[in-house]
Amino acid sequence: MVNGILNGKRGIVFGALDEQSIAWHVAEKCHAEGAKLTLTNAPVAMRFGKIQDLGDKIKSKIIPADATSTDDLTTLFEQSVEELGGKIDFVLHSIGMSVNVRKKREYTDLNYDWMLKTFDVSAISFHKVMQTALHADALSDGASVLALTYIAAQRVFPDYSEMAESKALLESFARSFGYHLGTQKGIRVNTISQSPTWTTAGSGVKGFQEFFDYANSMSPLGNASAEECADYCIMMFSDYTKKITMQNLFHDGGFSSMGINAAQLMGNNKE
Ligand SMILES: NC(=O)c1ccc[n+]([C@@H]2O[C@H](COP(=O)([O-])OP(=O)(O)OC[C@H]3O[C@@H](n4cnc5c(N)ncnc54)[C@H](O)[C@@H]3O)[C@@H](O)[C@H]2O)c1
Repeated sequence: MVNGILNGKRGIVFGALDEQSIAWHVAEKCHAEGAKLTLTNAPVAMRFGKIQDLGDKIKSKIIPADATSTDDLTTLFEQSVEELGGKIDFVLHSIGMSVNVRKKREYTDLNYDWMLKTFDVSAISFHKVMQTALHADALSDGASVLALTYIAAQRVFPDYSEMAESKALLESFARSFGYHLGTQKGIRVNTISQSPTWTTAGSGVKGFQEFFDYANSMSPLGNASAEECADYCIMMFSDYTKKITMQNLFHDGGFSSMGINAAQLMGNNKE
């Protein structure tokens, strides 16, 4: 299914680490739909990830940037505008990392320095991306800015720990910055709340298999895959969604609207 809905558009995709990354699928589909893009990730990810393979495959320049560094982000936007030959039409923020989860700290015994680092990487970086782009005047009028989030921002999933607050903050930045970018430049800002997905970040959460199976069994359509998430992202980058902004959009097979499901009661999980 390729329709050329991003023909002529220029974009930046953050967060492709390996073939499992949601951002990897998004970048591939953006390329297939006719967009030109640059790829970016934290400098450390250049060493252990496979982003170079993706860059070669879709002929995209890779510009390393720590998303918590406004200097790195300024360079990223400047180089992307130069490389792609004009202002940026879409941005995907696909970044998440919790220090306390990595170090297996219980939610009732969190290290606050680590928590601040988590918020900076997973949420404040989204504000930094938008503010840096605005100051650099790097986004085209009517551009589309997206970030990926999870329903733990609204409901309790105990093992998701401080990432729940990170996602609540991320979604709030989308609304608040969406107002400013909308009124100043007609730019859309949204978050997509994705089903549990087998990736490096996802599988780092304790009990991820149970998370995944529970959501799959509860959702009438089953969990949304990374590839399906990428389909949704390209629609949001396209001209078909020009008036959607400041929204948290659930892409979860119906999970967010469910109360109870007979499949759960029967212990009948979908594969
Ligand atoms: N996997 C899931 O179950 C799931 C569900 C809902 C939402 N999400 C969200 O999707 C997004 C992408 O995650 P994923 O599941 O594809 O996992 P992933 O591990 O492939 O991607 C996370 C990315 O964040 C990057 N990153 C970490 N610190 C960074 C920094 N300082 N600067 C720049 N980049 C940095 C990593 O290098 C990596 O590429 C995240 O926001 C995640 O929370 C994931």
